[in-house]
Amino acid sequence: MNFPPHHLYIRPQYMPMPIPWHMVEPDAESLIVELGFGRGEYLLTLSKTFPDALIIGFEVSMTSLLKAAYRLQSADKRNVKMLLFDGVLGLSEFFTPNSVDAVYMNFPIPWPKKKHAKRRVVRDDFWRILARVLKIGGYFELMTDVDWYAEEAQKNAEEVGVFSVELKRNPSRRVQTKYEQKWLAEGRDIFLVRVVKDEDYKSDYERLFIKGADYMPHAFIKKPWKELLNDMKSLEGLEIRQSTDKGYGIREVFYRDREILLRSFTIDRGFFQSFYIWIRPEDKEGDDAFLMKLDPLSSPFRTKSLMSLMRHIKDIVGEEFVVRHNLG
Ligand SMILES: C[S@@+](CC[C@H](N)C(=O)[O-])C[C@H]1O[C@@H](n2cnc3c(N)ncnc32)[C@H](O)[C@@H]1O
Repeated sequence: MNFPPHHLYIRPQYMPMPIPWHMVEPDAESLIVELGFGRGEYLLTLSKTFPDALIIGFEVSMTSLLKAAYRLQSADKRNVKMLLFDGVLGLSEFFTPNSVDAVYMNFPIPWPKKKHAKRRVVRDDFWRILARVLKIGGYFELMTDVDWYAEEAQKNAEEVGVFSVELKRNPSRRVQTKYEQKWLAEGRDIFLVRVVKDEDYKSDYERLFIKGADYMPHAFIKKPWKELLNDMKSLEGLEIRQSTDKGYGIREVFYRDREILLRSFTIDRGFFQSFYIWIRPEDKEGDDAFLMKLDPLSSPFRTKSLMSLMRHIKDIVGEEFVVRHNLG
């Protein structure tokens, strides 16, 4: 057995945005998503039940993802791709509107306390994201053992105005996950919330990941090394905050042998990324020539704040900074 089975993973940081799923699996007839697949029992069932679909699974636990990868590898299932990424943000950013046939979620942790409400997968913005990415006729199935969670989901889904919503107690199911078996063995009720998108949903959602990894903002700098180094050193500790959930900065500046690394960060609507910007000599253009680009090892998502940071560096360098790729 080959392990790790790389063909089962997708690293979204290295993909165009939104992800062109039709290129990932050109023959797939439909697109199905599972959020928080855990050990992957249901992911495997989906891949068997819908052999002509491309099944995308999101999970935030590496341990679970590896267990699920073993399971799928053993069953030789190839119509599944897994991402180690927040399922809600992934659903929102990696899919175009009206492109998803079905979304499944089994037994999410309900996070009942108010102070933990932000950790809930099914939170306020979730229903609008679902309304946007599902096709008309597409559906979402939520299984839970928590009655109030099911009732709240039903109510919130109805409020969006484009879904028909059903809540069923102890429905019969094609397959049971580990949690489901455990709850049923304990004699507890389980609930299915089934949501179908009946009409188009108008949305003015502004994407966070404005470009994909195929967009590499970079610039050519013609400046003596010492001057360039001083420019970059002056940026150490930079922190620009347009608001509490938006900004960028440079934590540290490292250099050696006419190479510079800027340990940088960006925040976009609360989404934080830490990464490096790399400046290296461009010898074929002469002694005082440098290339500045994102360090490929820490490939960040291309966001507005990332573009603002690049433009900030450009302003510090001055007219010797020649943009090779539009900074957005
Ligand atoms: C209670 S387990 C249920 C696992 C599986 N669905 C089942 O029924 O056996 C919840 C799973 O959701 C995952 N999870 C939590 N938040 C998530 C998020 N934002 N995106 C994707 N997965 C998430 C957790 O790591 C965990 O594996």
